[in-house]
Amino acid sequence: MVTISFVGLGVVGLVTQACFASRGINTIGVDASKHKLDILRSGNLPFYEPNLKELICDACSNLTFSDSVRHAVENSNITFVTVGTPSKADGSIDLLQISEASKAIGVALSNKSRYHVVVIKSTVLPGTTDNVIKAILERESRKSAEKDFGLIVNPEFLREGSSVYDTFNPHLLVVGATDNRSGGEIERLWKKFFNNYFLRTIRTNRITAELIKYANNAFLATKISFINSIANLCQRIDSADVKEVAQAIGTDPRIGPLFLNAGPGYGGSCLPKDVKALIKMSHFVSCHLPLLMAVDEVNENQPKQVIELARNMMGGLKGKTVAILGVAFKKDTDDIREAPSIKVIRQLIEHQAIVRATDPLALENLKKIFDDKIAYVKNKFDCLSNADCCIILTEWDEYKNIKAEDFIGYMKKPCIVDARRILDPQEFVVATNYSAIGLKPSYKETIPYREEHTSEIDLDMPLNAIRKEGVLIAENERYTIHDLKLDELTVSLTELKKAQETRGHSHADCSEVYFFTQGDGKIQVGNRTYYVGQGSVITVPRSEFHKVSNLGEQKLIFITVFEGKRFSKNYDYENKASLKSTVAEAH
Ligand code: UGA
Repeated sequence: MVTISFVGLGVVGLVTQACFASRGINTIGVDASKHKLDILRSGNLPFYEPNLKELICDACSNLTFSDSVRHAVENSNITFVTVGTPSKADGSIDLLQISEASKAIGVALSNKSRYHVVVIKSTVLPGTTDNVIKAILERESRKSAEKDFGLIVNPEFLREGSSVYDTFNPHLLVVGATDNRSGGEIERLWKKFFNNYFLRTIRTNRITAELIKYANNAFLATKISFINSIANLCQRIDSADVKEVAQAIGTDPRIGPLFLNAGPGYGGSCLPKDVKALIKMSHFVSCHLPLLMAVDEVNENQPKQVIELARNMMGGLKGKTVAILGVAFKKDTDDIREAPSIKVIRQLIEHQAIVRATDPLALENLKKIFDDKIAYVKNKFDCLSNADCCIILTEWDEYKNIKAEDFIGYMKKPCIVDARRILDPQEFVVATNYSAIGLKPSYKETIPYREEHTSEIDLDMPLNAIRKEGVLIAENERYTIHDLKLDELTVSLTELKKAQETRGHSHADCSEVYFFTQGDGKIQVGNRTYYVGQGSVITVPRSEFHKVSNLGEQKLIFITVFEGKRFSKNYDYENKASLKSTVAEAH
């Protein structure tokens, strides 16, 4: 009877081992971490993965764990190499674990007389098995691949969070082999695993098998960065919604509906690393890959889009309490490797926001990164409590059911940034301050502020002054026009460029009224901040400090009417240059 060993008990290794064991096949799992082995031997898991604990428990008679590669190879017929292949700082792939595993397997093979097949399941760049792993195995075993032992590349396509399901329900089996004996043995093994059900199989050479895995992940990453680019466009176009765009284009069978969910960017231990590794490899073979470079760039920048949504909604993040719902790189996992939440939280901290995070599973992992720089809250409602803003970063099912009234009830003000598009905009735009990836923000916030503010000021004051002081130059059934006598009243038109703000200032000798005619922005008046858009009217009392910021993509245009003279010195209205410089001085 066949026994299989697994070297490296991360998600891929442990899940595949447990699935084989559940099919009645004897398995030995090896890991270098004693701590991990202790956890497994005590019946627990070193990470969370749905259904895995139950599977291991049911199949425990076919599962053993060891720290000895030699023991595993001697007592099995096939060894799956499932160690990690993380990224180095420069994006290239770190082969330390794979080299050490190959060395240990090679040493074990040198003492073994029976035929053994080594199966590379770890994700390695094209050529690694032939040029690195094979060389180490042959050197350490003093045997020849293909002749004395088999060497196969058998990539996997399982996703964290659904890896048990994916192992039992793969869409494809890829067997990269250069000889029929080992290739046939692996195909038979998987056939047995699937009880002889038909499974689409691609039999190819090892290098192509390695590339299939990278191309697969790079294409998935491309789909995500593509839809995120469309989302970013939607955010700048009235009424466009990326979710509906994705649903529509997903019905085209040439495109397909999956991996078109716009969000804060792809994370996890695979997609970011694999795209970067392919780009790095392309340099070595003198092949420029601009498409993948763009995919990576879009992904690196996507968390900034989330920050922008929050910043624009709040008019600044300094001192604001931001509740983060979800930090895992996706739902149903406690994994935060390369999670967009890490970049978002870092940027929030840089903006001096007060960050509070919740997640059903991943908080402990997050603590290892941020320690006491942020607060960790188990309960989602406690996390929302008294927060100024909430950012949804993981699409956990339990966040999908939070009602608008819960956000309203718990938060200081219900300002929500839905970076995963799990809430219904129809409901939330009406009830809360809601902005989302792939939707143009609606800045609902201007409404209550404007009403509150205009009710306490005398808007008639400058208008009456214009009526009184201006010269009536036309009066008919369609309009009345007054021109101003400018030494009594000053009218100023300002076009504030994107991302610019006026100098903070006050006018000791006059109050003024701002009429916003285009764009999105905010005005700070004293210690209050008002979010303004087309049609907003704000009065600034005499001597009150004020400052205007453009938060939108276009110019922020406003007309300011000053009661009396704005400047103590006289200036010549006829001389435009002099006016320009005087206005520039004021702003
Ligand atoms: C990925 C691949 O999907 C698996 O096929 C592959 O076997 C695995 O890498 C691997 O190489 O081992 P995984 O990293 O577990 O699986 O997670 P995915 O489901 O691919 O999600 C990756 C990231 O993309 C997550 O942050 C997720 O939230 C994001 N994503 C995914 C989106 O933003 N939008 C989508 O439409 C789909």
